[in-house]
Amino acid sequence: MQIAIIGLGYVGLPLSLQFARSGVSVVGLDIDPTKVEALNAGRSYIKHIAPESIQEQVSAGRFTASSDFSLIREVEAVIICVPTPHNKNREPDISYIVDTGRAIAPHLARGTLVVLESTSYPGTTDTDLRAVLEADSGLKAGTDFHLAFSPEREDPGNPASDVKKIPKLVGGLTPACTAAAVALYRHALDTVVPVADARTAEATKLLENIFRGVNIALVNELKQVYAAMGIDIWHVIEAAKSKPFGFMPFYPGPGIGGHCIPVDPFYLTWKAREFGHSTRFIELAGEINEGMPAYVVRRLGDVLNTQGKPFRGSRIIVVGLAYKPEVDDIRETPSFHLMNLLKAQGSVVDYFDPYVPVIPPTRENAAWAGTRSVAWSREDFARADAVIIATAHRGPDYPVLLDWCPCVIDTRNVIRQLQPDLPPARAARLWFA
Ligand SMILES: NC(=O)c1ccc[n+]([C@@H]2O[C@H](COP(=O)([O-])OP(=O)(O)OC[C@H]3O[C@@H](n4cnc5c(N)ncnc54)[C@H](O)[C@@H]3O)[C@@H](O)[C@H]2O)c1
Repeated sequence: MQIAIIGLGYVGLPLSLQFARSGVSVVGLDIDPTKVEALNAGRSYIKHIAPESIQEQVSAGRFTASSDFSLIREVEAVIICVPTPHNKNREPDISYIVDTGRAIAPHLARGTLVVLESTSYPGTTDTDLRAVLEADSGLKAGTDFHLAFSPEREDPGNPASDVKKIPKLVGGLTPACTAAAVALYRHALDTVVPVADARTAEATKLLENIFRGVNIALVNELKQVYAAMGIDIWHVIEAAKSKPFGFMPFYPGPGIGGHCIPVDPFYLTWKAREFGHSTRFIELAGEINEGMPAYVVRRLGDVLNTQGKPFRGSRIIVVGLAYKPEVDDIRETPSFHLMNLLKAQGSVVDYFDPYVPVIPPTRENAAWAGTRSVAWSREDFARADAVIIATAHRGPDYPVLLDWCPCVIDTRNVIRQLQPDLPPARAARLWFA
């Protein structure tokens, strides 16, 4: 079997390799020539994807990367994994999907299956994508070619997460489209779950992300309320976890990041307006989560105040720039919000992240491009008035920060996890936010 996977990022690359490992011949298509070149040379540009796993499939001839969309003519199925960000007004930007549809359509052969994996609002597959595919190919979806949606459930950076084992939802335009998509994914994945249609699959993906966003907001709110009452949220969550039913732990933090949770729920908010509905849970959760960096900075200000220090001129190091542990992905990371807020207060801000040695150019945080991570050393950290642990990658001995710096704000509770019995001298320098 020959397939094409379009968009070789955090989702498309691991999926391509999984299909290739399963004996399917995969052509990966991307408009970024540097990615195409890197992959064909067996290089990885994603930290948690080993170059060897790419080299193995490239040299076996099961995976090649290309920018030539005419190769679509030769394949039986096309899977689309392109970005779905917000535009500058925080509305859905499905232009990448539409552009990809336009690039596919002239080469679409009768009988081909097209599957969209990019997260979007219900109706994207059977309305927006369908329209461009049909207009530019002269073929009819559901009759001349199959069309389906299958949401990605990638958990980057989690070593226990295996693409092959994560159940895959598929919903087609017609029952035949669903059946074609089920047959496709069964080549590479252990469990494929057919659902009623493409809209159901799209809506399910949004439910999963909204569920996370809302529950994280809940613990973020409780963290603030309990802190004011002198109650430790981390102890409360640990205790609640002893309940064997009806409770699932979520953990507070300095805000939410990544391509999914801060973005996807608002795709539904936007679409809901068309139907005269508002999505109050989503909006409230967004408001609370977005307010977390400011809360952390306020807490730091209180601590600095007790030490007789103003923000202005203080040196602060934010530990962890990536939005979650064990990844190098800085999209939507709350660490940038922390850094921007601190800078606005007049602090001199540095960061530490072993996976982001230098900040690459980004659209929203262009001013930080080229800034380098400080070293994990007493020398670099001793210059800081305070440290905020925003993301705790595995590896560093975080409790040692309490010897190096007068004030450590731990938003992830990582220090106590590594050293539950802190000696009083260390404990006196630790705060939570
Ligand atoms: N990253 C995750 O953990 C995750 C999890 C679940 C769902 N998703 C969803 O999957 C989709 C892809 O996310 P990602 O994290 O892989 O994005 P990404 O930015 O890592 O990768 C997208 C790739 O698409 C390429 N691309 C852009 N426009 C293109 C076009 N017109 N033709 C060909 N290639 C094009 C880019 O060059 C890039 O390599 C998004 O909708 C996202 O919401 C991501």
